[in-house]
Amino acid sequence: MAGRIPERFIDDLLTRIDIVDVIQERITLKKAGRDWSARCPFHDERSPSFTVSPAKQFYHCFGCGAHGSAIRFLMDYDRLEFPDAIEELAARAGLKVEYEGGRPDKPREDVSDLYVLLDAAATFYREQLAGNAAAREYFRNRGLDQATLDRFNLGFAPNQWDALKNALGTSPKRLALLDKAGMLSSGERGGKYDRFRDRVMFPILDRRGRTIAFGGRVMGKDDGPKYLNSPETPLFHKGRELFGLWQVRDANQKIARLLVVEGYMDVIALHQYGVTQAVATLGTATTSDHAEILFRNAADVFFCFDGDRAGRQAAWRAVESVLPRMRDGRQAWFLFVPDGEDPDSLIRKEGLDGFEARLKQATPLSEFFFAETGKDVNLSSIDGKARLAERARPLIGQIPDGAFRDLMYAELERLSGARTVAPGGHAQAGSRTGGRGGGARPAQRSLVRTAVALLVQYPALAGEIEPPWTFSELRQPGIPLLLELIRLCRDRPALTTGALLEHYAGREEAGPLNKLASMDLIVDADQGRADFLGAIAQLDVQTSQQRLDDLIARQLEGRLSDAERDELRNLMANKPAHRRK
Ligand code: UTP
Ligand code: MN
Repeated sequence: MAGRIPERFIDDLLTRIDIVDVIQERITLKKAGRDWSARCPFHDERSPSFTVSPAKQFYHCFGCGAHGSAIRFLMDYDRLEFPDAIEELAARAGLKVEYEGGRPDKPREDVSDLYVLLDAAATFYREQLAGNAAAREYFRNRGLDQATLDRFNLGFAPNQWDALKNALGTSPKRLALLDKAGMLSSGERGGKYDRFRDRVMFPILDRRGRTIAFGGRVMGKDDGPKYLNSPETPLFHKGRELFGLWQVRDANQKIARLLVVEGYMDVIALHQYGVTQAVATLGTATTSDHAEILFRNAADVFFCFDGDRAGRQAAWRAVESVLPRMRDGRQAWFLFVPDGEDPDSLIRKEGLDGFEARLKQATPLSEFFFAETGKDVNLSSIDGKARLAERARPLIGQIPDGAFRDLMYAELERLSGARTVAPGGHAQAGSRTGGRGGGARPAQRSLVRTAVALLVQYPALAGEIEPPWTFSELRQPGIPLLLELIRLCRDRPALTTGALLEHYAGREEAGPLNKLASMDLIVDADQGRADFLGAIAQLDVQTSQQRLDDLIARQLEGRLSDAERDELRNLMANKPAHRRK
């Protein structure tokens, strides 16, 4: 494969940069002995358990387990792909990235040219706005003041086919670049012309304030769509960007909350009126990438949608995206604006105070969740309760382990009367297992424990997974026991729970296994099977992750064999772009 970056280069690069510098540019580190510490940027916490070791050139979080090299940090924190993280580090080290067998298909250095070009385009549009009375009049009529025009670097694209082309793209190379940046459209005969014409222009910035795309709005009731946006380009992936986030970060030292609205003009009006924490998705539903970015920036997120059917649907999409991100400490609310209004019109009518008052009345995620899952369900009938439980359970199961998930299960139980089981195999039905004393914390759950508990209760499940068992390599407590149980149950397919426990009589595992066996799981066999297979699949994923981490650690120590290098490359190439632990 052409374009691979040689390991030798990566080794060299990592010796030239200091992970402390790289991380310190992004989060505040405090010296702690020989290491540095901070509150972990990858999960919510009050006391710092995130440590950066200059000696090891490694970071590690004792809370959530996140760890890795400077490369890994950039990939996870700046959400860069592997080669882009290398490019970023190389740039700061003053190195030019080497690619084996020539350049990759998409030459990387084009990207920096694209940034420069889009920046020049934004400047061009801003200058055009200054010279166009109708466009200035449009923004004035929409109530924007000069400071706001400046803050968002708003502009105007003239009503010509080639204004931008003439200004920025006279050579074939520049034209190709403009095209790649999404600034041109193609005619039927393949001719290229300015994509944005006779529109007021909204630059879209990335989190570092670089222009990566544009939205353009018609000023009158012209034909064509009201808003035209840049297409997907090497710089712009609309499912990962939030309009206004840079301005939010610019205006707020610390971002206590973020407000997600639907439109450019909503963000801009809110900022002008003092709600400087507003961002918008770019004409798309809230993606899980969005959810991650939102919560990485603020613990509290408010979603503002229209109150109509489409708005509630959009809100539900947001619910689905945020549930897997709802670690403890994070909260989401929903605010539905009245018919015919949007945040832009509301804040103009009701002012900052009125708008803040509405935010105070916003619906918490939990409430909206049960309102939606309980829709068309008659909760006084057994069928209805079952229906609710069926709908809600898998969704709640996506919430990360913690108090919020426990509370959601408890609420589901209250509403449906059905006892529910967290994926950890911990019955949520209060202290039916004879808990000691009141208020005991829910038992620590883990995937291994889930798998063992289900296996003890349904020994036949062992027949459902065929060797080789990837997870057997996983270094986690309980794995050897899980393996032993699986082998045992496969050897004796007729084994019952009781018989199984006999095998362990007198061994130290007997106590815990008995507890798991007597635990009130209340899952039916099908659910049990699904949970078991799900837990095993997760363990397999963790095993690959562990292998990847091992190889990276060995690479940092320079102890990688050729075979391991190949394996590392493969793992890197196959891993999901934004895998996070
Ligand atoms: P709206 O039509 O609600 O936007 O679309 P708005 O900001 O309130 O518009 P005006 O200027 O006040 O009339 C919400 C968002 O959906 C996307 C844009 O991102 C817009 O901001 N959209 C809308 C498009 O991409 N294309 C369209 O034609 C319309
Ligand atoms: Mn509007």
